[in-house]
Amino acid sequence: MIEIADLVKTFHHGSVNEVLALAGIDLKVKKGDFITVIGSNGAGKSTLLNCLAGSYGIDSGHIRIGEQDLSHWPEHRRAALISRVFQDPLLGTCAPLSIEQNLAMANRRGRIHGLGKGVRRADRELFRRQLKQLGLGLEDRLRDPVGLLSGGQRQALTLLMATLIRPQVLLLDEHTAALDPKTAQQVLALTVQLVAENHLTALMVTHNMRQALQLGNRLIMLHGGRIILDVGQAEKAEMRIEDLLQKFYSVRGEEFVSDRMMLV
Ligand SMILES: Nc1ncnc2c1ncn2[C@@H]1O[C@H](COP(=O)(O)OP(=O)(O)OP(=O)(O)O)[C@@H](O)[C@H]1O
Ligand SMILES: [Mg+2]
Repeated sequence: MIEIADLVKTFHHGSVNEVLALAGIDLKVKKGDFITVIGSNGAGKSTLLNCLAGSYGIDSGHIRIGEQDLSHWPEHRRAALISRVFQDPLLGTCAPLSIEQNLAMANRRGRIHGLGKGVRRADRELFRRQLKQLGLGLEDRLRDPVGLLSGGQRQALTLLMATLIRPQVLLLDEHTAALDPKTAQQVLALTVQLVAENHLTALMVTHNMRQALQLGNRLIMLHGGRIILDVGQAEKAEMRIEDLLQKFYSVRGEEFVSDRMMLV
């Protein structure tokens, strides 16, 4: 469904600061795959997601989704197919607009003249139902500005917005890392629920080894812009955190396990 072939991305090409962020990524993702993506700081995880979403142009290689080659599509065109949720809860929503206005914008994503702020009555009812499912009481606050919400509420809303028009691909980049543990757990549970309900194809970057092993049906580890581990559901189910750490050690030595890598 997604086919990434020999994807190369450098930053500051030709200068002394040149960084080879993706050094030839080959990845085939099946429809409905939920892949957890791990790797140390600077491994290329966010760059891979950014290249998929079109935030960064690529040096060479191909990115296909279904029959379409979107290697050189601009970001806004890819947005009709790809949804993203970032680490920062402030990024996915528009603070001065109300909850229902944010949802209305998400509901029109990818359509021409799609960014008006108006909310139709039928849509309002749909939003109320969807918000109720989150179990956060947001269905009674449709007209509240999003800026009033907590980080966790905002991230839950962002997730809902990202999946409202079922995307072909959902990209999650450490989307629970900025939340307190309890809220992170709630947003994670919501993620699993929305991915399952909508049969989404998803890539989720995480530094949390337990999450990486527990969630999804496949796990990949990046290092130095390459995929150095790719395990499917059966193998993943057998793996322990120690096995992942062993793999980390084997490529970089003990200093490699960064303080951001959560082991629980
Ligand atoms: N916009 C950019 N300009 C220059 N260099 C960049 C840019 N984005 C990423 N890089 C570099 O590319 C490499 C890969 O970075 P990337 O952000 O993809 O890592 P990551 O695996 O997401 O790490 P982290 O776990 O810290 O988020 C790093 O060396 C980084 O410094
Ligand atoms: Mg990153």
